[in-house]
Amino acid sequence: MRLKLGFLASHNGSNMQAIIDACNKKILDASCNVIISNNSDSGALKRAIKENIPGYHISSLKYPDENELDIAILNALKKHEVNLVILAGYMKKIGPFTLDYYKGRILNIHPALLPKYGGEGMYGKLVHEAVLKAKEKITGVTVHLVDKDYDKGPILNQIEVPVKENDNADILAERVLKAEHEIYVKTLKLISENKIKLNNL
Ligand code: GRF
Repeated sequence: MRLKLGFLASHNGSNMQAIIDACNKKILDASCNVIISNNSDSGALKRAIKENIPGYHISSLKYPDENELDIAILNALKKHEVNLVILAGYMKKIGPFTLDYYKGRILNIHPALLPKYGGEGMYGKLVHEAVLKAKEKITGVTVHLVDKDYDKGPILNQIEVPVKENDNADILAERVLKAEHEIYVKTLKLISENKIKLNNL
């Protein structure tokens, strides 16, 4: 099964870019079909233009009704024949229609070793600050399937990242982000080779 990826990203989109690069270099046998962002000014949408991938700004500004927003996202994914949805720093919850249609086919990346340091309010720098506060020696990255709760779906892959003595949240975030780029591509490769099996794909 060839992966046809659809991305949802709110900000910079560096994870998305790592995956696009892997596709362009044929490290990953997948096509990058569409990029959707809730943020019209996101790096992710700028990357869409640069990479010549259809990009859509779909947000509650355009669709104040939650169901209409959910359906607009689902329609864009379907229109571009996406078979696997990649959340890459997407700061919104996925609505029930999209969740149902793509059940077991939506991936997210989290910058910690879930179930630790996950859940509502645990994002960005806050994750790394919590890791440092708890004096962890090891943190990491988790790629997991998305269900209706934040950061709770089945874990597909994890990678450990060391916490070093003089780390602050920014330094740690940078080290973790590098590992994110690596593991997201690796996990997709394992899925495309059927070494990680997704039930509904
Ligand atoms: C990453 O740290 C990711 O784990 C989290 O949001 C951040 C997105 O970074 N979900 P980027 O937009 O991919 O650069």
